[in-house]
Amino acid sequence: MANIKYHLGEELPLEMHKVRMVQRLDLVPIERRLKAIEEAGNNTFLLYNKDIYLDMLTDSGVNAMSDKQTASMLVVDDSYAGSATFTRLKDKLQEIFGMEYFLPVHQGRACENLLSLTFVKPGTFVPMNYHFTTTKAHIMINGGEVLELHMPEALNPISSEPFKGNLNLDELLKLIEKVGAEKIAFIRIEAGTNLIGGQPVALDNYIETGKIARKYNIPFIIDASLLADNLYFIKTREEKYKNHTIREITKIMADTADIIYFSARKLGHVRGGGIITNDKSTYKKLLEMLPLYEGFSTYGGMSTREMEAMTVGLDETMDEEMINQGPIFIKFMVNELVKYGVPVITPPGGLGTHIDAMAFLPHVPKEQYRAGSLGAALYIASGVRGMERGTISEERNPDGSDHIAAVELLRLALPRRVFTLSQVKYTIDRLVWLYENRELIGGLEFYEEPKVLRFFFGKLKPTSDWQIKLAAKFRADFGDSL
Ligand code: F0G
Repeated sequence: MANIKYHLGEELPLEMHKVRMVQRLDLVPIERRLKAIEEAGNNTFLLYNKDIYLDMLTDSGVNAMSDKQTASMLVVDDSYAGSATFTRLKDKLQEIFGMEYFLPVHQGRACENLLSLTFVKPGTFVPMNYHFTTTKAHIMINGGEVLELHMPEALNPISSEPFKGNLNLDELLKLIEKVGAEKIAFIRIEAGTNLIGGQPVALDNYIETGKIARKYNIPFIIDASLLADNLYFIKTREEKYKNHTIREITKIMADTADIIYFSARKLGHVRGGGIITNDKSTYKKLLEMLPLYEGFSTYGGMSTREMEAMTVGLDETMDEEMINQGPIFIKFMVNELVKYGVPVITPPGGLGTHIDAMAFLPHVPKEQYRAGSLGAALYIASGVRGMERGTISEERNPDGSDHIAAVELLRLALPRRVFTLSQVKYTIDRLVWLYENRELIGGLEFYEEPKVLRFFFGKLKPTSDWQIKLAAKFRADFGDSL
């Protein structure tokens, strides 16, 4: 953050931008919220925006764009093939990451589809610092096995370890020894491990992983969807690189990898995605599939308007005053919650604030989905929509039993430059109230359960009338407040 000190001694996040366009929000009364969550099968994905006050479901495709990004969308070349918009984006990616070949796709998981189809064969392994839902699903569909080689500290909710997202290099070497390099489809590092609280990866960890990958001739793939936060954390937490520019850090990181892919719904603040590499033969293999799954090689299923705005957004991502916005707001929120004793993942990471539902609701059986229950409870209490990142987000075990997640989180994403400090404070207020009334929160059970990625469309019901009691307590405590 810009070096600004407060006379009153407060530590507040401060914006280096002003808001020039706004969207009207409504906060519907708790009686409607109770009904809405029931209609949504207690799945926050299935709520409608008209019933939501603050949408903290995700930062995907909903980050605020800059004036320059919006303006760029009017000057577009939307030729089907060979558009100048594509060339501008490709050149920008090359300038920032130093990678020559670019395959545009409609969003991040499309990269995962193409990469898994190309590299993953039945019986192969994909070691990574932590899985993401769509990543794992694509690898599994192609017969591969995901191995999470994280540091012991990664799953510890209360920690001061600055880089909980690091790949465990000792475990990686042991794995190569055990199964042989040829059985490893690729090594994957997710910059800013989504499912364990947006925890970053140190630049030295990328460098060392790259060395191992090269030594054993295993492709090294970086998922850079959450790179912006990770760059900020390297700059501010990794002593060795504090005098490097964001551009320099990005380039050092990119040089370690064979392939980088990203969801531009996050990186670049638009809606789209892409794969970049310097390896011509990989590029050619991927290129063959591009028109089949995505679109011609110069748009890949994206709107050219989004591509034009992505070029500007990627350039703006190299500005520390832009990429600090997520981390400084998240840090404020996490520190306030810690003050009130609300269990939350520390140190503050990227993407959003992650509430530790395992510790919040110890009285709810794990099989009754603590994070899902907390997500429903927070919506009822506040109109704030979060996302379950726990057992509901896992696939069932082959024997049909629930795979209890290692961490049970309610994620409150903070789309960048979208919410004000007072909105964040409102959310903290309601979370503290919920924590003080946590005994009232009960569990959930499925009544409609899809086989794959069940968290998107699955429907659940409360195991008792706890939601009605929670709403009654809200009325008793808050009177006629919305
Ligand atoms: N990789 C990471 C690390 C992600 O966080 C996501 C998406 C993807 C890949 C897939 O990208 O959505 O564009 O297809 N994360 C979103 C989220 C969905 O809400 O965290 P996508």
